[in-house]
Amino acid sequence: MQTNLRPETMERITNAELAKAFIDEQVEAVRAQVGDKKVLLALSGGVDSSVVAALLIKAIGKQLICVHVNHGLMRKNESENVIKLFKDELDANLVYVDATDRFLNLLAGVADPESKRKIIGKEFIEVFADEARKLEGVEFLAQGTIYPDILESIKQAEGKQAVKSHHNVGGLPEDLKFELVEPLKFLYKDEVRVVGEALGLPHAMVYRQPFPGPGLGVRCLGAITRDRLEALREADAILRDEFDKCGLAEKVWQYFIAVPDIKSVGVKNESRYEGWPAIIRAVNTKDAMTATIEEIPYAVLHKITDRITHEVEGINRVLLDLTPKPIGTIEWE
Ligand code: XMP
Repeated sequence: MQTNLRPETMERITNAELAKAFIDEQVEAVRAQVGDKKVLLALSGGVDSSVVAALLIKAIGKQLICVHVNHGLMRKNESENVIKLFKDELDANLVYVDATDRFLNLLAGVADPESKRKIIGKEFIEVFADEARKLEGVEFLAQGTIYPDILESIKQAEGKQAVKSHHNVGGLPEDLKFELVEPLKFLYKDEVRVVGEALGLPHAMVYRQPFPGPGLGVRCLGAITRDRLEALREADAILRDEFDKCGLAEKVWQYFIAVPDIKSVGVKNESRYEGWPAIIRAVNTKDAMTATIEEIPYAVLHKITDRITHEVEGINRVLLDLTPKPIGTIEWE
């Protein structure tokens, strides 16, 4: 009988040896499931979809078609890095779709957080479906579902409400019927990382911090504009660079910049300079249900402030968010 619960006998994957055994087993299972048919995968570049991609490339090579949708809300160089790793280094069959204009045009003027999330989630499915319809002979859809996702859907089926509508590729239109391939569905996140490293993915990718599906869209607060989104992307890249340099990147679970739709008065080159504030958020958590604030040394904060205010067009202040979860959620929207 097919069950969605992790078998009680399944050993926790804690080292490379166990990971290799898991990989061998899944390679066989995937080959047996899909035969010589094609499999489609939405490859965001996040840990789960990247590990599925690497596993399926090993199992079925070019029968896997990865579609990377750039919704225009990615972090700096993120799509470029996905293409470099999967297309150039792993020789994946990768379709790159730059859908920036589609997303940003739909989001123009929309300030309500849930409406933004719904627009991004729905459009993502539409862009992905448009690509799927262009391909012939695809019978399977691979997904980076992991065990906590399964547990979450069981909870939701029992009627417990989620705080925010999360973004995934479920719910494709009726005309696209695929059989699912979910090789990670019984793994916890730490196991996915061990498997990813055993598959040869770079450490930095496998241990990267979580990034929400709606991307920078939920950090460019209120109605998104291209100039504020660009300022956010640049400020976020500086924060990540400085966290890498001082070692905080290894210690902090999630850290990012949010930029609200507020301008304050500043002064630059002896003239009035109106700009947005960049808000730093750096949190630690075990399961994302609660979170505490990571202390950042003042010297690091000064350096980040100095760089952001000098290097990023449109930002004239830097603020630090000290709010734990609860009461704040990790993301601002
Ligand atoms: P919150 O803001 O609810 O976030 O405290 C908890 C964790 O979930 C991430 N997050 C998302 N992840 N799709 C995702 O895959 C989403 O739509 C989404 N929204 C929030 C958030 O970054 C944090 O790690």
